[in-house]
Amino acid sequence: MPGMHFKRRMFRSQPRSNIVACVLLCSRRNLKTEAEPRALVAVKKATQSVQVYTTALKCVENDDLKEEWEKYLEQTKNHVTIVKDVLQAMGLDPDEESPGRQVVRHIVESLVQAMEMALKSGEEGTAELVAAESVVLAETKDHLNWHLIGEAAKKSSGEVAKLLSAAHEKVEDEEDEHLYHTTGWARELWIKSLGIPAVLPPPEEVKKVETAIGAARAQQARAQML
Ligand SMILES: [Fe+2]
Repeated sequence: MPGMHFKRRMFRSQPRSNIVACVLLCSRRNLKTEAEPRALVAVKKATQSVQVYTTALKCVENDDLKEEWEKYLEQTKNHVTIVKDVLQAMGLDPDEESPGRQVVRHIVESLVQAMEMALKSGEEGTAELVAAESVVLAETKDHLNWHLIGEAAKKSSGEVAKLLSAAHEKVEDEEDEHLYHTTGWARELWIKSLGIPAVLPPPEEVKKVETAIGAARAQQARAQML
């Protein structure tokens, strides 16, 4: 079967980071690949981050953080559209179920349940802390997914590179902000809950951090910002 030979050859010769490109190339030849469920997991993750933000917004108490998460929710909805468009261009069905998507759903539903449990406790600040941690966990995975898409784009060529680069370009800066700023919020809200002076809004927010190095510098500078 020529298609199967093509598939084996392609996956033997490609680094793991090029897996999204493999999906695209394979799908252009109407092949089913083992990489396809992984791409679907990425879209499911983006879709379910919307659910994380929607629940987190029920938990938030700080007005600045509320405004921040409302913005991130809208951006995340747009990321879902971007990823779905890429999958459709790859000839894949963004709504297709797979075992990987079930795992993602389980993780995200656990985060949502954790926030709802904290809300039920009725303790001031508790649900907001759990929400900040849940957003950091969800955004850590989103950040990794987009990093991998960026790596795949760099190793691709032609239409594949264009599609992946365009998607990555549109989303990368926003994903950086989601992760680094919310990590700062989670840290400072926890410090405040311990009765220690906190920097709110966090340094990452004030200094408009968009890189890992910037986040590290912002964290170092917090003592001078108290
Ligand atoms: Fe995000």
